[in-house]
Amino acid sequence: EKPGLELAVVSVPSYACQRHTPLLHHNTTLTDALSILAENAELSENEGRGVAFRRAAALLKSLPQEVRGAEQLRGLPCLGEHSLRVIKEVLEDGVSHEVETTTHSEQFKAMKALTGIFGVGAKTADRWFREGIHTPSDLQRSGHTLNRAQRAGLQYYDELNLPVTKSEAVAIGQIVERAVHAVLPGAEIILIGGFRRGKQTGHDVDFLITHPDEGREEGLMPKVVSWLEAQGFLLYQKTTRNSYLESKEGPARPASNMDRFERCFSIFRLSTDNEGREIQTGREIQTGDDPQTYSPTLTNTDPHTHSDTHPHSKTDSHPLPQTLVFPKPQTSDFPRLPQTPDHAQKVSWVLGHSQCSGPRSWRAVRVDLVVSPYSQFAFALLGWTGSKLFERELRRWAVHEKAMTLSSHALYDRKRTQYLRASSEEEIFAHLGLEYIPPCDRNA
Ligand code: GTP
Ligand code: MN
Ligand code: MN
Repeated sequence: EKPGLELAVVSVPSYACQRHTPLLHHNTTLTDALSILAENAELSENEGRGVAFRRAAALLKSLPQEVRGAEQLRGLPCLGEHSLRVIKEVLEDGVSHEVETTTHSEQFKAMKALTGIFGVGAKTADRWFREGIHTPSDLQRSGHTLNRAQRAGLQYYDELNLPVTKSEAVAIGQIVERAVHAVLPGAEIILIGGFRRGKQTGHDVDFLITHPDEGREEGLMPKVVSWLEAQGFLLYQKTTRNSYLESKEGPARPASNMDRFERCFSIFRLSTDNEGREIQTGREIQTGDDPQTYSPTLTNTDPHTHSDTHPHSKTDSHPLPQTLVFPKPQTSDFPRLPQTPDHAQKVSWVLGHSQCSGPRSWRAVRVDLVVSPYSQFAFALLGWTGSKLFERELRRWAVHEKAMTLSSHALYDRKRTQYLRASSEEEIFAHLGLEYIPPCDRNA
């Protein structure tokens, strides 16, 4: 018997929404391996298999200690035969043959590269792969007709695949705040997605927007988008009504709210000065324990835009708005911190790959905006904070354990045949008979 933990006697609940899953955990070698297989399954449109690997990985993320031997896993839920086999292999040999084969496979590499283009999903990427298109350059050369999203995705490919840092998220948040308050004072803007869960980097920045006076938020998105466009902050945007998004999720949405939930997928043009240090809005951005010295500027240096004429430019010294909530930095004594790319390196990399000539003082960043009526705010907040697996597990718990239907709009009790109101995430967890799990512990 190896010394240390006896995980088998630790009782671990089987739904990820019953567990605390911190961002930093003790089993990254194992979860990295399982994540590759999950990703491969998802890219092959084998969703069930993908979920099985994701559940196994999430279980390992929630364990209080490092797993050193397979015997420690006895009695734990969520570990299927295939996942267990991979875990054992990694524990014994340091690597899994299947994971190695996958990461080196031409198909996996091509599918990752092609779905890495904004606007390209697994189906499209697979079709192109079978035509011999393996890289974005192949695609560009192929002369395929691309939609607007895909053209933008190709144009900003390199930058959109650079992680977005927390300071960039803060800077984007200030722009969104200005835009929203310019068209609807009193609106609330909340950072959601991975950054709300305490992640230091993300593939995009997600915001939820609402207004305490129900109804005031109606028609907000087009106005916000117009403001952002007029200021030169948008490289791409597509605004959609939400009505189709949850249509497969049963009766959990009041019909009257069918078309009131709007979202916008966008690409922001975020200014960065060449030194990458100065903040030109006259106020300091609080980045907590973030060791980075870099903070992006909010100033729009492009001569074609009109930021200088806007009342909130440069000399604006308003304090940080109360409603803009950013997660506290997480203290940690874990060995593997997520690596934030070095800014100097990043800038030269971007400049080196830029399609326009000459130095550039901005970068492209993916941003998602969601507008929610106030009465659905708690559900939207819970539904858009993630992680994706945590959300999936919440809905599975609701259906199978509580006979309820949960969506980003509402919670419906099938036995009592009524919607359950909630004005906070805590109330939703309570309705579901779950212990409250804070955002930083939803990294399943
Ligand atoms: P990174 O952006 O990679 O850092 O991770 P993330 O967790 O922020 O992922 P992402 O931005 O893709 O999604 C954020 C949250 O929004 C996740 O919890 C998703 O479940 C949720 N989400 C994304 N798209 C949709 C959608 O179409 N409908 C609903 N209801 N939720 C969505
Ligand atoms: Mn995100
Ligand atoms: Mn997103």
